[in-house]
Amino acid sequence: MNIAGDMRVLYHIVRGSSGGNSHAERLEGFYRNQARDYDDFRRRLLKGREAMLSLVTAPEGGVWVDMGGGTGANVEALGEERLRGLKRVYIVDLCPSLLGQARERIARNGWRNVETVEADATSFVPPEGRADLVTFSYSLTMIPDWFAAIDHACRLVEQGGQVGVVDFYVARKHPEDGRLRHPWRTRAFWPVWFAADNVFPSPDHLPYLQKRLLSIHVLERRARVPYMPVARVPFYIFVGRAN
Ligand SMILES: C[S@@+](CC[C@H](N)C(=O)[O-])C[C@H]1O[C@@H](n2cnc3c(N)ncnc32)[C@H](O)[C@@H]1O
Repeated sequence: MNIAGDMRVLYHIVRGSSGGNSHAERLEGFYRNQARDYDDFRRRLLKGREAMLSLVTAPEGGVWVDMGGGTGANVEALGEERLRGLKRVYIVDLCPSLLGQARERIARNGWRNVETVEADATSFVPPEGRADLVTFSYSLTMIPDWFAAIDHACRLVEQGGQVGVVDFYVARKHPEDGRLRHPWRTRAFWPVWFAADNVFPSPDHLPYLQKRLLSIHVLERRARVPYMPVARVPFYIFVGRAN
């Protein structure tokens, strides 16, 4: 843990996302000055990424697209052995500062089958024209057209691939059978808390994923939040395949 780094990150989180004329500019404005400290802080905030990756299939010779992949931490978390088996990995993001960190990570690890792409998760198509695995880790809550991002991922994996998601959420007031209920204070607090950073935990992401894909794994959990001793933020893990 790096206290000075934490303070820089907390300053930007509490200050919130500042202006910008486009979504990409707002992302860059938010992350530019915390990109170097991103991984250390997010390791403690963004729970369940390794668990989601352990549940997805990354097939031998396959193509993996990590949408909103940021610094590429997921690629490391997948593990060298599974990574070596993949033909190609695309870390797709709109934020140049985070992609810069991902490129440093690629160089450090000497990965030859991984590349960064500055592109929108709602429209990026890999040169292969399809994917065996599309993941979103804590990115759907930051993508304004999240439904378009899910629809697009469904098209990319329609020949038998999987979509894996881990993210913050809140339950619907009246959830589907089998889904968790959250008290009013949970449903009211977290969307307001995150909104300043243009992060929108939604009651609709998980139901929409379940509508568009065949569910393989659905887990609903809560996680501690750094510097908020009593808070437990809800997150889910979803893994599905084409309908
Ligand atoms: C909270 S970060 C998560 C980064 C990474 N997936 C992780 O788990 O550490 C959300 C990421 O989504 C990216 N993002 C937001 N909207 C996007 C979009 N429309 N297309 C591509 N990336 C986007 C942001 O730039 C940021 O890197």
